[in-house]
Amino acid sequence: MDYLKLATIDELTKRKVKSLSILGRKIGIFKRDNDRFFAVETGCKHQGADLTTGKIENNVATCPRHGWKYDLLTGRCLNHASPRLRKFDVKIIGKEIHVSLQPVNETEE
Ligand code: FES
Repeated sequence: MDYLKLATIDELTKRKVKSLSILGRKIGIFKRDNDRFFAVETGCKHQGADLTTGKIENNVATCPRHGWKYDLLTGRCLNHASPRLRKFDVKIIGKEIHVSLQPVNETEE
């Protein structure tokens, strides 16, 4: 699997999320409380709003437009029938955060 360096640990020291667009996909890199990182698609499955601009609490993101809620750890939408958000593998190399180019849950429902 191919990875790209998309952030550094230092970038996620003050803010707990970095939002970016890679290959036409909105991706968020998140820092959890235990200093672990994960990456997930952050374009809402409804109409594409950036989930990182809405409320995020206990790893649940609420879309700022119409309130769809997603569990960011699983990608599941919690209040609508919707495809999952794609998740991406993360590797830490030194102080760099590398993210897989291919989703890791593409085949999950
Ligand atoms: S765009 Fe996210 S709920 Fe409508």
